[in-house]
Amino acid sequence: MAARHFLTLNDMTTTELESLVDHASALRKEWRQGVVRDSLKNRVLAMIFEKSSTRTRVSFEAGMTQLGGSAMFLSPRDTQLGRGEPIEDSAIVISSMVDAVMIRTFAHETVERFAAASSVPVINALTDDFHPCQLLADMQTYREHRGSIRGGTVAWIGDGNNMCHSYINAAAQFDFHLNVACPEGYDPAPELLEQHRDRVTVVRDPEDAARGANLLVTDVWASMGQEDEQKAREKAFQDYQINPTLMSIADKDALFMHCLPAHRGEEISTDMMEHPGSVVWAEAENRLHAQKALLEFLILGRLD
Ligand code: CP
Ligand code: NVA
Repeated sequence: MAARHFLTLNDMTTTELESLVDHASALRKEWRQGVVRDSLKNRVLAMIFEKSSTRTRVSFEAGMTQLGGSAMFLSPRDTQLGRGEPIEDSAIVISSMVDAVMIRTFAHETVERFAAASSVPVINALTDDFHPCQLLADMQTYREHRGSIRGGTVAWIGDGNNMCHSYINAAAQFDFHLNVACPEGYDPAPELLEQHRDRVTVVRDPEDAARGANLLVTDVWASMGQEDEQKAREKAFQDYQINPTLMSIADKDALFMHCLPAHRGEEISTDMMEHPGSVVWAEAENRLHAQKALLEFLILGRLD
């Protein structure tokens, strides 16, 4: 049987995603109680990082250890991937030795090619186009604080980037409306907008996106790989900040999330992380629990 992969949220059904998020919350509770779990004993996760990471690396590596398995960090600098070995050849070899592979890279096509040649599950740990693992944690966090997001409204403030694209997929999978406020020239991918026309509204004014919303989310103005654009982006995005004033026009119970790392004074005000609606630390921790649930689902083929 071909391996199941997790390259975007669309690789799972809504029912599977909801079970996964529920399971993540159960794992969190269990872990906090000190329960020892060895569901992935002797299993190995290979982690390929072509871009930097704090949360993703720590959560996958700690998660595998906590489930009784292990994780190995591979960087292109130290492997033949960085010396031009074809992706498909690397995929065949690496997947013949481990139980799952996690990849953070630039072109989304790279994870698709790797997955097509891999005999074990492949997880997208961020590409230029999508960041689905973060959405598992975000959806888990929303549910833990406010219950189901179904029928609600999420406001995305800022760049129409990889995180925004994954929010568009999440809108369809978790059944909410997404208001995207971004400057002209920084819209999400047109094919995604076209595909989810009934779910996504693009506006230019952050207030139009935030009014009455249940969740406000943002991300850095310049993503990894866009360092040269930093100055131009600072100018383009100067009016796209989540701050207490913007929060005040959202729903009174609105939450604030950010995948982190955050730039205080840019996409968020300096006081935003401490705002009563902010759940950024719980969101970051949930990367661990959500991915443990994901690893069990992909490697064992079940959630229990
Ligand atoms: N949010 C996130 O993916 O963080 P890292 O880049 O630190 O992994
Ligand atoms: N959009 C950001 C997310 C980092 C977790 C980036 O791609 O750099």
